Amino acid sequence: MVVTKTIELASNNDDAQTNKPNMPTALYEKVLPEKALFKTAPKLHKGQVALVGAGPGDPGLLTLNALLLIQQADVIVCDRLVSPEIMALKPENSELINAGKSCKEHLLTQDETNEVLVQQALKGKRVVRLKGGDPYIFGRGGEEVEYLIAHQIESIVVPGITSASGCSSYAGFPLTHRDFAQSVTFVTGHRMKDGTLDLDWKAFASSDRTVVFYMGLANAQLISDNLQSQGRSAETPVALIERGTTPKQRVVVTHLSGLPDAIKDNNLKPPTMIIVGEVVSLAEKNRSLAERVSNHSRQTG
Ligand SMILES: C[S@@+](CC[C@H](N)C(=O)[O-])C[C@H]1O[C@@H](n2cnc3c(N)ncnc32)[C@H](O)[C@@H]1O
Repeated sequence: MVVTKTIELASNNDDAQTNKPNMPTALYEKVLPEKALFKTAPKLHKGQVALVGAGPGDPGLLTLNALLLIQQADVIVCDRLVSPEIMALKPENSELINAGKSCKEHLLTQDETNEVLVQQALKGKRVVRLKGGDPYIFGRGGEEVEYLIAHQIESIVVPGITSASGCSSYAGFPLTHRDFAQSVTFVTGHRMKDGTLDLDWKAFASSDRTVVFYMGLANAQLISDNLQSQGRSAETPVALIERGTTPKQRVVVTHLSGLPDAIKDNNLKPPTMIIVGEVVSLAEKNRSLAERVSNHSRQTG
């Protein structure tokens, strides 16, 4: 039997008496003063797993549903990319299991993580699998849900703000702007097991496209070389955003040909996002425009 689950509405819960959510009762009223929001708030039942996107770092970018589910958890299985401020929102009596996924460091393998989710759910726990950004964008959320379905564990998925959106906004430029980019592509810069990074470089070389590389730091030379050899200008602006949306955010703006050196010179480390495209030039333009407007209002106000 395949078990799928859409988010259950709080107002539509038949077994509320026997399977009460573990949530402080005041929480709905506190977080959701509007009755309309209360009706659509998700409930996490015993033996269910919620895959929850935690966004790119700033706790203010959590969704309301993410916060409500975190507050109901008996067990939270988290990744390294989830910020300490977000972890501080977990209920005091909940258990924390650190899966610790980053490029090189895996406290738990993916297989072990899948199994932990199943075992905790079978124990009757309310499980929140908390993942950086969006669980379904380079987050292996798809594999985890498949495993849960195969083991007949009910799951719900709450999308999060993916780091491409968070980092570009906080760095001061849009991913698309109709004068510069007609499309945006999210790409993994992580090589496959056989060491290849077999991507559609020709398509990414089109000058009216923004290309966002997740996990691209280690392969920056290859990214720069391949895009240029397919015709993307060496002068194309590139933004490197390290720990975007957090107090430790660093933004480095360079050009395609200078990408590998910019990483070395600035000693950039994961998590860093590489964004290639003309839209990056808007960061500088928007900043100087904003400064001019605020100077003007200071002078006239
Ligand atoms: C395994 S992927 C996970 C992506 C995540 N699911 C999302 O939607 O953002 C990890 C990569 O996302 C990017 N990333 C995640 N959070 C970031 C942040 N706060 N700042 C910059 N890059 C980030 C980095 O490129 C990092 O190597």
